[in-house]
Amino acid sequence: MKLAVSGKGGVGKTTLAASLAGALARRGYATLAIDADPAPNLGPALGLEPTAVDAIVPIGEDEELVAAKTATGYAGVYNLSFPVDDLVRSRAVPTPAGPDLIVMGTVRAAGGGCTCPSAAVVRALLRRLVVGERQAVVLDLEAGLEHLGRGTAAGVDLLLVLVDGSAAACRVAGRIMSLAKELGIPRIALVGSRVDPEGGEVAANACARRLGIPLVALLLEDPAIALAGREGKAVPADGPTATRVEALLDRILQEAEA
Ligand SMILES: Nc1ncnc2c1ncn2[C@@H]1O[C@H](COP(=O)(O)OP(=O)(O)O)[C@@H](O)[C@H]1O
Ligand SMILES: [Mg+2]
Repeated sequence: MKLAVSGKGGVGKTTLAASLAGALARRGYATLAIDADPAPNLGPALGLEPTAVDAIVPIGEDEELVAAKTATGYAGVYNLSFPVDDLVRSRAVPTPAGPDLIVMGTVRAAGGGCTCPSAAVVRALLRRLVVGERQAVVLDLEAGLEHLGRGTAAGVDLLLVLVDGSAAACRVAGRIMSLAKELGIPRIALVGSRVDPEGGEVAANACARRLGIPLVALLLEDPAIALAGREGKAVPADGPTATRVEALLDRILQEAEA
């Protein structure tokens, strides 16, 4: 199971990615949480302390590792076929919430194209990571469409697109959806996140109808989640939102088996 979470900035992607990854780990899935946002903040949401977060060297910024993977001995010629499973073993950091965490980091594209070696390593990891039985990968994407544009969401089984009931978030969701279809992502679903109980639900449903994709969960504005965010603490594993995330996960797993 390879899940990705996308949507407009601030809509709750990192929070939901951490929450889903934690829930999968608690159910016994060997879970890898991948922070693919160039401004990474999935670590704290999974309960890592600031010192542990600061100690992580993102894969795309580890020049030695990138060179070891891609160097051919010829300037400007990169090896693009290399194993990625060892990367997971050597670079994933265990977190208090349960999942292992990998941070991709900022990837600078050389020239206009994206043939730079660090991008190649990050892309290869996302695309070629083989996910077996009782294993899960949860990808926290950056706001908007960058990663989809670069093709890093290819290979994802299910893309969750978050909307908060605002017109802007629905517009971004529509653009993400078109790109995801082009990329051939087999399943796309909408999740209401940080939804205002007053009227937000109606707006999220209207967005789902307009885009023609199902709204599979509705996560309301939750003071306990907001507090954890303010304090840089782990996303709570219980409470009303966690219960809704568990229900969402039930649905995702059932549909994956069907
Ligand atoms: N359901 C929610 N209720 C209240 N606050 C939330 C909720 N989900 C996320 N937040 C808060 O909103 C802010 C942005 O969330 P985040 O997950 O970082 O969004 P994104 O990754 O989409 O930018 C954080 O401070 C987070 O704690
Ligand atoms: Mg985020």
